[in-house]
Amino acid sequence: MKAGDVNSAATRGAWSEDRARAAVAPHAAVPGGLLPALHALQAEFGFVPKPAIALLAHEFNLSRAEVFGVASFYHDFRLDGPAGRHVLKLCRAEACQAVGAERIAAAAQAALKLGWSETSSDGAWTLEPAYCLGLCASGPSAMLNGEPVGRLDETKLAELIEQAGP
Ligand code: FES
Repeated sequence: MKAGDVNSAATRGAWSEDRARAAVAPHAAVPGGLLPALHALQAEFGFVPKPAIALLAHEFNLSRAEVFGVASFYHDFRLDGPAGRHVLKLCRAEACQAVGAERIAAAAQAALKLGWSETSSDGAWTLEPAYCLGLCASGPSAMLNGEPVGRLDETKLAELIEQAGP
């Protein structure tokens, strides 16, 4: 599984210290291992659970504030809970704004009934803002479940949501 991928329903969710220790162990003795450990925790739980911050602080001989600072600096780490089964990231940076990103954002928020960084109560969708996805020439751009999507319009957006399934 790629780092930052949406986790499977079978492994996301509830905290388990044993699972957390197993996820962190391969990275704990490695210089620069904190980021891979955070990715491993997110892959295991679907997010970085709060108790994992203390575990990482202990394993890497850092303060909890230092670990939290790193985890909260990178937007791909989720700290509040697992993402939905489908994660739609919409680019909100200048090049995409110039070709209608705000219109697409409004359509996505209305279709999914979500604000930015919200997950639907049924766990189906998470809507995230992104600030350049490297597809500036193909805007408005998006990323759906890790797959880039360019030249979005309202019709294409509706099709993507429909085809993604439950
Ligand atoms: S500005 Fe949207 S992909 Fe770069």
